[in-house]
Amino acid sequence: ATISIIGVPLDLGQSRRGVNMGPSAIRYAGAVARLEAIGHNVIDEGDILVDAVERIESSDVGLKNLNEVIKANTKLAEQVEAAVTDGKFPLVLGGDHSIAIGTLAGLKKGYNNLGVIWYDAHTDMNTAETSPSGNIHGMPLAVCIGLGHDSLVNLHSEGPKVKTENIVIIGARSVDPGERALIEEKGIKVYTMHEIDRYGMSYVMEDAIAYLQSREVDGVHLSLDLDGLDPLYTPGVGTPVPGGISYRESHLAMEMLEDSGIITSAEFVEVNPILDEKNKTADVAVGLMGSLFGEKLI
Ligand code: ARG
Ligand code: MN
Ligand code: MN
Ligand code: MN
Repeated sequence: ATISIIGVPLDLGQSRRGVNMGPSAIRYAGAVARLEAIGHNVIDEGDILVDAVERIESSDVGLKNLNEVIKANTKLAEQVEAAVTDGKFPLVLGGDHSIAIGTLAGLKKGYNNLGVIWYDAHTDMNTAETSPSGNIHGMPLAVCIGLGHDSLVNLHSEGPKVKTENIVIIGARSVDPGERALIEEKGIKVYTMHEIDRYGMSYVMEDAIAYLQSREVDGVHLSLDLDGLDPLYTPGVGTPVPGGISYRESHLAMEMLEDSGIITSAEFVEVNPILDEKNKTADVAVGLMGSLFGEKLI
């Protein structure tokens, strides 16, 4: 399928400046040429229009910049939905992770039983009540299963966007108490760094893919937060957590997803060029896209 690239220069879902430049940094790292070289048809749809943070009155501290986050995500949902309707593969470039709210809302219509792979140091399952920060980028996975502020849960369409049993989290190592309680209560499938260390990424991915296939998903969205990797490889992120997934493990994960053929949409988020070292994090993101979209030596 043709790949539809959608940039979301949103940094209002968290508190550090610069992640709004993520889409530019990823394009500068050669995303389009890299995917075309594999043989894909790529259309860069450009960026969603987002108001500059300097112009915004910071709203409710429990949910920072709620109105702006809703506005940008509503536009994103419309564009993702249009891409899926057109038979294209949506590839969303962030932006902070709150944009997963819009992406998943946009995917709702196209799939009856969507799976989600959440590749992240965090589980992003806070609500306004449990969040230590008020940052909406720590909430999108809770929102998509129907927990959180009404305006986020019902964004673009009423109700939850994904079934709790269709979610797989990979790479978790920074989980807040409220998130842990939720994960235990709902029985969400999580592969923490412990499972990756103990059994290896190869086993973890095989198991994750088999799990989603056993759920009879009709599509799988990969939501890849660059802070899932160790900050050694992706220093340009706002909330780095040491002890993360390696560069090689991440490429292996992408290659195994490609071989499985289950991925039907993806997003790469939290690239922050201001915090980065010579665009290293965007370079890694583009390299991972290469593996995810079928780059092979031979
Ligand atoms: N758990 C923390 C919070 O809720 C950090 C979330 C980080 N999320 C991210 N997408 N980088 O604020
Ligand atoms: Mn994260
Ligand atoms: Mn995240
Ligand atoms: Mn392969």
